[in-house]
Amino acid sequence: MRLKDRVAIVTGGGRGIGLGVAKAMVKEGAHVAICDIGQDILDSGLAEIQAMGGEALALQMDVSAKDQIVHVVDGLTEQHGRIDILVNCAGINEILPIAQITEEQWDRMLAVNLKGVFLCCQAVMEQMKAQGSGSIVSMTSVAGKTGGVAAGAHYSVSKAGIICFTKSLARELGPFNVTVNAVSPGRIDTPMIRQATDEENENFIRNTPLGRLGTPEDVASAVIFLVSDEARFITGEILDVNGGMLMD
Ligand SMILES: NC(=O)c1ccc[n+]([C@@H]2O[C@H](COP(=O)([O-])OP(=O)(O)OC[C@H]3O[C@@H](n4cnc5c(N)ncnc54)[C@H](O)[C@@H]3O)[C@@H](O)[C@H]2O)c1
Repeated sequence: MRLKDRVAIVTGGGRGIGLGVAKAMVKEGAHVAICDIGQDILDSGLAEIQAMGGEALALQMDVSAKDQIVHVVDGLTEQHGRIDILVNCAGINEILPIAQITEEQWDRMLAVNLKGVFLCCQAVMEQMKAQGSGSIVSMTSVAGKTGGVAAGAHYSVSKAGIICFTKSLARELGPFNVTVNAVSPGRIDTPMIRQATDEENENFIRNTPLGRLGTPEDVASAVIFLVSDEARFITGEILDVNGGMLMD
């Protein structure tokens, strides 16, 4: 087991990529808290973890609300005495032409996708610094590098911001033996992409050398590597998990 007794927080952990990451971490022996905004999503995510014989904490938390994050992180720190891993998977997407994005939609997108990552990292970083160890991984996207195809500009901008924030935080936390990386998925088969048509998804597959959509497990494998001891000298990295859709 590569993560035996590590204490991990997975935001957006109730479904999709976050749930895939949480399941993989449970299998690797970690104590995982799945944090998500939706109670029904948390309930069904937890049920899936239990169905595979695992256990996790399921905690309701909005990543755009600092007080809720601090409450969760303080509670886990008190319970376990440490926080080893933070994986930022919570996110929203909206496919809209720029002219139709309202100010409220822009602000909400940035509040969840980008400020949420900042707030969650800020909430765990002092504990990780004090421990002299820790790993943070955030989900960016191919859209954050290309401007996006099936994504609004506000989504793409939020993901570009995560790339820059990851590098800034990696510089700041390196001296404390805390690694900070991001994973940049291509098209992954989760509820998020089900707002696209079959034709749009087939178009993605045509432009993907490996010839299929990705799965949450494909992304989870990369995350497990980045938070494992094998990746101890990797920080500030943006790791593509996209089937070859974008090679940069
Ligand atoms: N699916 C893809 O093709 C793809 C590609 C690139 C990047 N990503 C990124 O990966 C991450 C996970 O995406 P997914 O495909 O699993 O999406 P998803 O919609 O299936 O899951 C996202 C989860 O985040 C939760 N969430 C939303 N707003 C939240 C908030 N304010 N606070 C806490 N939780 C909140 C949702 O309830 C949901 O459980 C996202 O950041 C997404 O942008 C996904």
